[in-house]
Amino acid sequence: MQNSEVFILAIESSCDDTAAAVLHNDKVLSNVVANQLIHNQYGGVVPELASRAHQQNIVPVIDAALRKANVQKEQLSAIAFTQGPGLMGSLLVGTSFSKSLSIALKIPLIAVNHMHAHILAHFIEEEGFDKPEFPFLALTISGGHTQIVKVKGFFDMEIIGETTDDAVGEAFDKSAKILGLPYPGGPLIDKYANLGNPKAFTFTKPKVPGLDFSFSGLKTAILYFIQKNKLENPNFIEENLNDICASIQHTIIEILMDKLKLAVKETGITQIAIGGGVSANSGIRTRLKESEGRYGWKTFIPKFEYTTDNAAMIGIVGYQKYLSNRFETSAVVSKARIQF
Ligand code: KG4
Ligand code: ZN
Repeated sequence: MQNSEVFILAIESSCDDTAAAVLHNDKVLSNVVANQLIHNQYGGVVPELASRAHQQNIVPVIDAALRKANVQKEQLSAIAFTQGPGLMGSLLVGTSFSKSLSIALKIPLIAVNHMHAHILAHFIEEEGFDKPEFPFLALTISGGHTQIVKVKGFFDMEIIGETTDDAVGEAFDKSAKILGLPYPGGPLIDKYANLGNPKAFTFTKPKVPGLDFSFSGLKTAILYFIQKNKLENPNFIEENLNDICASIQHTIIEILMDKLKLAVKETGITQIAIGGGVSANSGIRTRLKESEGRYGWKTFIPKFEYTTDNAAMIGIVGYQKYLSNRFETSAVVSKARIQF
């Protein structure tokens, strides 16, 4: 039974973004994210600095989310927070804050798996965005994960393929680093790729059995390719940046699409939903949309602000858990690794 007056405050602090959102049932009233720019100068997330920044940001971010939503703390029905997976020091900040606030406000506490949230972000009520029907396949692609998940229900999911080494976001970021681009390099590769020829250079695709992925070989291949070409022409990167980015992105998209096609063949499921930071990639979005006509798939691409790490996606899982009374006691703990 749907309770029509559910207000969820959601808190996400698994990595380097401090985020808070307020949902009224399945509608997002506010979605605030504080990015931690401090990591850019180190070429990757520094866990110690991330947890400190979360401590600084968490109160203003939650305050901003409540004010933007025009919701008083006393109106909240429950607090949902990211339990894991993620960086332990970062998770602890959101978990401890959520516990304290739930005790202070005497409202239930809901623990959310970050990866479930990337998948269930598709169930946020948004004009112009359809929701998938169960069962569907979810491709979750982020800086920490690359998974194909068979989603049979809100709380019934099965990983049918995943990376055996680097995540696809890491493949983008590490390739970008080889090219001398700042962190996070994924969005920059996307930007330059749009101006280049995807067939200019060829990188061998890894041979991984079944639905699993591997990206570490690609990174090494790109490193050797750049080193070799720079020996012949020290300006090789500068002179070919767009083509190199387009070729790298093309190879990564091919790897993802090959496995998706196999997953569809093996499961017979043709509804495909993507989630995770890398699903912001314009090339992936275009290829998926094309697959509707080409293979008869129905694809679901979330609104941009719900693809990268955000708290609205934590809130929608919180709402579903609220409806089915899946609450935690204050003994709940953060989990850097978490059972799917
Ligand atoms: O989901 P997310 O925000 O954080 C994690 O949970 O990891 O994903 C971040 C990842 C980074 O690796 C970033 O480079 C990548 O998503 N990313 C992109 C794009 N936007 C973000 N990769 C390729 N193209 C993009 N447009
Ligand atoms: Zn994420």
